[in-house]
Amino acid sequence: MSDSKPGSGIWDSGSDARALIEAARNARENACADFSHFKVGAAIETADGSIFTGCNFENATYGLTLCAERVALFKALSDGHRKFRRIAVVAPPHAPTPPCGACRQVLWEFAGNIEVILANLAGETGRHWIAELLPQPFDARLLK
Ligand code: THU
Repeated sequence: MSDSKPGSGIWDSGSDARALIEAARNARENACADFSHFKVGAAIETADGSIFTGCNFENATYGLTLCAERVALFKALSDGHRKFRRIAVVAPPHAPTPPCGACRQVLWEFAGNIEVILANLAGETGRHWIAELLPQPFDARLLK
């Protein structure tokens, strides 16, 4: 789990996220959302500054849908990255689109307390920490 949490010194919240949001916005163009028509793009930044993008993929059984956030995260993990700073999520409505419950859990377990930057097509709409979005998480510490 990453140690990138508020006050850890590893990441400075409030920094410019335009490039990360732009990467998420571009990734969104590749979304397969034939059923919901709700296209989402995500871009996750690793501790070394690499960016991995993802978009949502829906299928005919609906339940196998992959969210943009998890696609981006697993692309980074499968390339060997284990420490992360932040993730940007871009979705079209005016209201912010925070990650679903499943994505919050997986982000917490594999990326730690990263910053979540929400945006729509017009730009940034808000920032949160995963710990704030997933209070009292269940994770491996409880299995010991
Ligand atoms: N979706 C995401 O990819 N990320 C989110 O944060 C919210 C929801 C996708 C899943 C599904 O393909 C569509 O948006 C509608 O729920």
